[in-house]
Amino acid sequence: MHFTLTDLVTDITQNGAESGATQVELEVRESPGQFRFSVKDNGKGMTEEEMKKAQDPFITDGIKHPHRKVGLGIPFLIQTAEQSGGGWDIQSQKGQGTTVSAWFDPGNVDTPPLGDISGMFRTVLLFSGPGEFIIRRQRQGAEGEELGYEVKKSELAAALGDLEDTQSLILLNQYLRSLEEDE
Ligand SMILES: Nc1ncnc2c1ncn2[C@@H]1O[C@H](COP(=O)(O)OP(=O)(O)OP(=O)(O)O)[C@@H](O)[C@H]1O
Ligand SMILES: [Mg+2]
Repeated sequence: MHFTLTDLVTDITQNGAESGATQVELEVRESPGQFRFSVKDNGKGMTEEEMKKAQDPFITDGIKHPHRKVGLGIPFLIQTAEQSGGGWDIQSQKGQGTTVSAWFDPGNVDTPPLGDISGMFRTVLLFSGPGEFIIRRQRQGAEGEELGYEVKKSELAAALGDLEDTQSLILLNQYLRSLEEDE
């Protein structure tokens, strides 16, 4: 099965979007030695017990994806990070929210390829659920200089109108791609 780091990030971000949160923040940082992301939501949160369940690859309710044999989700993130010399962290408070972070070594042969960053940002910005979605991006340019940007769904919607409208989607795509260009 082929998958990318952006597939993992999208999946974890979807959990945040489905958590009842009014705001989700996605941070993606990249340096030559590390790819790191964190997803923070102010949704329903998890008890210790619920967190243990969510981390267990052998527990699945089988309702949402009755035919899926290879799960994504938190166990898959943990497995992929640990197998490739990376790491992960989950902080959650029932009724308060959850923060899931993971980091990967891009040089490790077992680390999945990066995937399409701006395509992923577009996908997560369109998740229904949270009223506000904030993206923070940091990476290094060709000369090692720090590059980065922040995108807020509320500001995009104010500028582009309904983001699901075809015209807006095209503009959103162009805008997100332009942010990833060096100059
Ligand atoms: N950010 C979160 N806030 C609250 N609960 C969460 C969060 N992330 C995961 N969970 C809990 O952990 C469970 C397992 O998450 P996981 O992503 O593995 O599966 P899923 O979201 O139920 O289904 P799938 O990701 O396969 O569509 C969720 O159903 C949810 O109960
Ligand atoms: Mg999920």
